[in-house]
Amino acid sequence: MANSLCAEYNSTSVSRLTDKTVVLGVGGGIAAYKAAEITRLLVQRGAKVRVMMTPNAREFITPLTLQTLSQNPVATDTFSLTEESQIGHIRLADAADLILIAPATADLIAKAAVGIADDLVTTVLLATRAKVAFAPAMNVHMYAHPTVQGNLATLRSRGISIFEPGEGDLACGYEGKGRLEDPSIIVEELERMLAPRDLEGQRILVTAGPTQEAIDPVRFVSNRSSGKMGFAIARAAVARGAEVRMVAGPSSLPTPRAVERFDTVSAAEMLGVTSQNFPWCTALVMAAAIADFRPANPASNKLKKNSRGLDLKMVSIADELPRLAAKRGSRVMIGFAAETNDLEANARDKLKRKGLDLIVANDVTQEGAGFGVDTNIVTLITPDGVALSHPKLSKDGVADLILDRLVSIHASKHRRLRAVR
Ligand code: CTP
Repeated sequence: MANSLCAEYNSTSVSRLTDKTVVLGVGGGIAAYKAAEITRLLVQRGAKVRVMMTPNAREFITPLTLQTLSQNPVATDTFSLTEESQIGHIRLADAADLILIAPATADLIAKAAVGIADDLVTTVLLATRAKVAFAPAMNVHMYAHPTVQGNLATLRSRGISIFEPGEGDLACGYEGKGRLEDPSIIVEELERMLAPRDLEGQRILVTAGPTQEAIDPVRFVSNRSSGKMGFAIARAAVARGAEVRMVAGPSSLPTPRAVERFDTVSAAEMLGVTSQNFPWCTALVMAAAIADFRPANPASNKLKKNSRGLDLKMVSIADELPRLAAKRGSRVMIGFAAETNDLEANARDKLKRKGLDLIVANDVTQEGAGFGVDTNIVTLITPDGVALSHPKLSKDGVADLILDRLVSIHASKHRRLRAVR
């Protein structure tokens, strides 16, 4: 392909935590044992983990466990001359790119809210200028107590991230909100805290998932899309500072934090809700696998079994993208092309037909690129004919690649607009 430029990108397969120093402050609660899993996940993502513990935390988990997992000495005492010379509370506070307090007990939350610094963990919290997150875990009634909630509100108002506890059976025998957030979600949230805020001021509309076209009240025609790609884009866009609305087809995936979700079922519904929200957005990312055909006359009652079979007449569903593109103004428009053959040729054709700024093409027959999996293999094609092929990446990684392009397309559109004025 003469005008095609093929390049390989590995950077986004690397975690944002790689080579970052995460100081993990462990509080004295039963969930302290989960600090071991958090440490393991952080190390797995390439972070340099420095653990510090309150005296009570050592009653629940030993420094040796966390030292072994973090591959670094564990700091426990502000007044230990040996520790201070090796680690030093000011050095810990300065070295941190991120500080995570997990589990954050009611006591630690209260001390941090009023600025008490009577042990290593609370001293480091006062001395640091790094980003800080608290992952509370405690008894359901303690968590709901107005004092704890008031202290958390104080921490939030200072820009500290709070990873809300989950609900479920608690170690104290109660059931309810108070369980430490899942370690893998905590680590994901930390990754998000390190994202560049380059989408601040953008309003991004994302479509995600499959559509379902009714045959009768109980049957439908659909496709294999899981929605994972669109949800990953919505999640990543929020992390980078955008306001995000997501029009989702039927999907059981959880709504990413701070995303306004509109649930739809049929292509007509999805396209209608997308059109309604289009004037609001500064960029549209059409990641949904929208049906091209629907049954012409869905039955109002359940069709009964018979030996003659069923002839299903299908009618075409009009493509919404060219219509939206016609009234786009300066909006960035990104579409997807899920192909099984002639990937680049088909995708180039769609890019042109649909008036897009970027098309994300993937061959769904390739292993690791199809529907339902957590990875994707994409080629990004722009109207100037440039096609960039990327290796297999996580869908989160692909989401960031797409958003990187969105940022640069948006910037060049606005440069052009300024030049015209
Ligand atoms: N799309 C759309 N409206 C439709 C169908 C698709 O806006 N009625 C969007 C999809 O969300 C996607 C892009 O168009 O971003 C390409 O969808 P795809 O199904 O791959 O392409 P089609 O144009 O439907 O062509 P074909 O099915 O023949 O490959």
